[in-house]
Amino acid sequence: MIMKTYKIGVLVGSLRTESFNKKIAKAFVDLAPSNFEFEFIAIGDLAHYSEDCETDVPQAWTTFRKQIASKDAFLFVTPEYNRSVPSALKNALDVASRPWGQNLWDGKPGAVISSSIGAIGGFGANHHLRQSLVFLNVPTMQQPEAYIGNTASLFDESGNLINDRTKESLEAFGKAFLAWVEKQLS
Ligand code: FNR
Repeated sequence: MIMKTYKIGVLVGSLRTESFNKKIAKAFVDLAPSNFEFEFIAIGDLAHYSEDCETDVPQAWTTFRKQIASKDAFLFVTPEYNRSVPSALKNALDVASRPWGQNLWDGKPGAVISSSIGAIGGFGANHHLRQSLVFLNVPTMQQPEAYIGNTASLFDESGNLINDRTKESLEAFGKAFLAWVEKQLS
């Protein structure tokens, strides 16, 4: 039997080189079902959204919009900035949501992983992000939730995930996400 595959765009809310969220996203990809084909989609070079730019669209927006349009579903992995979504990630949502009537997220399933060096695991960012995803019509997996706390203790010096419980959680999250994507796109 031919295995059905899904193109997943991975958007990481941190632009930091040594980002824990990037490391979590990479660990997730390594542990995920082979039905998924992942592409990490860069969001750091997108000009801040202004409708003025729609008359002379920046090249980075065009490239980004094509990447979003080419995907079946999305995984968002994000830190929490001041109890909300980092501005770079919110901007990326905005850029692919316009011009009006051309919401490229529309109807494509998603999942959210948030993390923090603190104990709460980015709960606030996770749920603020979900608020935008409701409006953008991204059916977002509700369970299991993923709030990963104390990230500074989860990786070795080479950036490998060394916490077995987190590995198990990410693996279970990947299986549930596959079931979610299959259900939404069937
Ligand atoms: C943070 N951090 C943070 N952590 C948290 O749990 N709740 C918060 O509201 C904030 N706010 C916040 C604002 C700003 C501007 C920064 C730079 C940081 C700390 C954050 O969890 C920590 O820096 C993470 O390591 C960021 O994720 P990356 O860059 O490692 O992926």
